[in-house]
Amino acid sequence: MGHGLLQGKKGIIFGALDHKSIAWKVAERCVEEGAQIVLTNAPVAMRLGEINELATKLNCEIIPADATSIEDLENLIIKSQEILGGKLDFILHSIGMSINVRKKKDYTDLNYEWMKTTFDVSAISFHKVLQTAFKHDAINPWGSVVGLTYIAAQRTFPDYSEMAESKALLESFARSFGYHYAKKANVRVNTISQSPTVTTAGSGIKGFSDFFSYADKMSPLGNASSDACADYCVSLFSDLTRYVTMQNLFHDGGFSSMGMAPEILED
Ligand SMILES: NC(=O)c1ccc[n+]([C@@H]2O[C@H](COP(=O)([O-])OP(=O)(O)OC[C@H]3O[C@@H](n4cnc5c(N)ncnc54)[C@H](O)[C@@H]3O)[C@@H](O)[C@H]2O)c1
Repeated sequence: MGHGLLQGKKGIIFGALDHKSIAWKVAERCVEEGAQIVLTNAPVAMRLGEINELATKLNCEIIPADATSIEDLENLIIKSQEILGGKLDFILHSIGMSINVRKKKDYTDLNYEWMKTTFDVSAISFHKVLQTAFKHDAINPWGSVVGLTYIAAQRTFPDYSEMAESKALLESFARSFGYHYAKKANVRVNTISQSPTVTTAGSGIKGFSDFFSYADKMSPLGNASSDACADYCVSLFSDLTRYVTMQNLFHDGGFSSMGMAPEILED
């Protein structure tokens, strides 16, 4: 049951592909808390995924947009405000994709054209979304923009490959753009560093299921689920976190502060 935390707020949710997607859970929780939303995803994902099912369930519209295309993003930002009847209060960026990871290229043998695409889709798209919203003055004062990231931005997780650098870039954009958006319109920009989560993107990483249980044991509270991540996103979109900005926020059951877990040694 919702608590009306997002009553009257309007937002765009990027990245709901199927029911496992973190963005799927965030969309459901936002609506439960009283928000009106527009869903968006890349045109190809609209064909492969289940986003129509979610839109029907939540009674909201879908506007396709490739997050690397400024033209698509402008259309999305303008049309969303028309559909929702006013400026936005929040945006979730829940997008990640690496062709090198998908094609199982070793980190010491990466294809640089693919790497550029990875950075564009997974990180530069965050700047593009922010810049498009900024130019169109599309977000209300005290609005909130959140991107999803992973601790491989700070520590080495060998199989995460070039996605580590993508996440470092994404987090840096949140800090830098957070300054400019705070000065312009008191808009907050943060990233949430989420535990390993069983999703299409997550499971694409080599050795994911072993790593998932390793992280679960390493984290005193266990891995944070996508439902819990959705709760955290709601809190960041709400008025209860108005002075939180330019942060990378760990939502990981304590994983990031651990040095050694006796439970793992026992195994
Ligand atoms: N699953 C995990 O273990 C985990 C952990 C930490 C952070 N994250 C991050 O969470 C976010 C969401 O991933 P997920 O795990 O829910 O997986 P997911 O596969 O469900 O979501 C990834 C989404 O990115 C979308 N996308 C890809 N290219 C796009 C483009 N050009 N334009 C617009 N959208 C595009 C996909 O269609 C998909 O909906 C990603 O940023 C991911 O890196 C995931």
